Amino acid sequence: MEIAHSLQQIQSSYIREILAAATDKNVISLAGGLPDEKTFPIDLMKPTLESLSDMPEVFQYGATAGYGPLLELLTEMYQLPDTHMPMICTGSQQGLDLIARAYVNPNDTVVMEAPSYLGAMQVFGLVQANIATVSQTDFGPNLEELEQCFIQDSPKMFYAVPDFHNPTGVCWSLETRKKVAELCIKYKVAFIEDAPYRELRFTGEALPMVSTFCPDDSIVLRSFSKIASPGLRIGAVTGKKSYLEPLIKVKQGADLHSSVPMQALLVGLLKHPDFGLHMEQIQSLYKQRYDVLFAELKKQLPETCILNPVDGGMFIWLSLPDCDTFALAKTLIANGVAVVPSPVFYPKPEGAPSALRLNFTNANAEELVEAVSRLAKVLNETLN
Ligand SMILES: Cc1ncc(COP(=O)(O)O)c(C=O)c1O
Repeated sequence: MEIAHSLQQIQSSYIREILAAATDKNVISLAGGLPDEKTFPIDLMKPTLESLSDMPEVFQYGATAGYGPLLELLTEMYQLPDTHMPMICTGSQQGLDLIARAYVNPNDTVVMEAPSYLGAMQVFGLVQANIATVSQTDFGPNLEELEQCFIQDSPKMFYAVPDFHNPTGVCWSLETRKKVAELCIKYKVAFIEDAPYRELRFTGEALPMVSTFCPDDSIVLRSFSKIASPGLRIGAVTGKKSYLEPLIKVKQGADLHSSVPMQALLVGLLKHPDFGLHMEQIQSLYKQRYDVLFAELKKQLPETCILNPVDGGMFIWLSLPDCDTFALAKTLIANGVAVVPSPVFYPKPEGAPSALRLNFTNANAEELVEAVSRLAKVLNETLN
């Protein structure tokens, strides 16, 4: 049977190949975007896990928009006004897919920063969107390019990850946040704010979300994968009721609703008195690992390799002198370290600046030190 034309255009994921190679015990993986399993708050989930056996109602079919007590909790947590609502989805990835299917027709323009989150490129590719890109600076998207793009391409939406971007770790400045919101309102472009790393800040104060400056022109995607556990597959979408109703319709056709026992489990976890402490612990663990990786990279890599500090998230973006980063990633795997080469994060990979994405949340400090010495050995040999 011939596969759909929309799927024929989607490249097979290079990340999957890399992750497969990275399961080899002799390879230290900085390639994935995985939280450390040891951080999963299973102890804090235990009381709710036990009480689930006395809650037969959560094993029944549930409402498409989500489990009532979780919706109430999120409405309060995110201080949503009466005009707005939350909706639960099967990971924030599903939220993105629902947005694409509810709003994007083939050839509608969707804007993203380049580089960008691979999962978003896949989702928008599947609905045959025309993906336009703007370059990213240390403060967020290049604002002149963005305005030009809004004028020329009349995009339907601008998808972005303003807090600790995947793959670059960039966190948008306050000025950029305000300006992007202003442009979205002015040119009637919906802002899709994807915020899975927002709570993983380990330095400095949180900045307001972009959507706080354009609440009626935005949809926000939240994830519990990085702060609780990805296996729960629970995320949330928030926005104006009129924006979310079409998503509920699509979700009905997709999976009726997300797992209710898992939503009930999340309610118990978020209400646990020690959840705040759990958050502090993961922020502190990831800061320690980030500090180790950053310091070792600075110490061991040739000066032509450039890296910017980050204040949170899961990734460091390592810019390299012009080279074949795919060949480099293969050589690195043969030398026992897995990384992701930059072109996979570009909707138009030809001519992508040479860089590598390095994850610091999954390997421990000792492994990170060893990974950098393997990386440094290869880079010193190949870049000279
Ligand atoms: C930017 C971004 N958005 C969304 C997701 C998907 O997260 P979830 O596990 O909530 O589906 C990820 C996962 O890594 C991500 O990096």
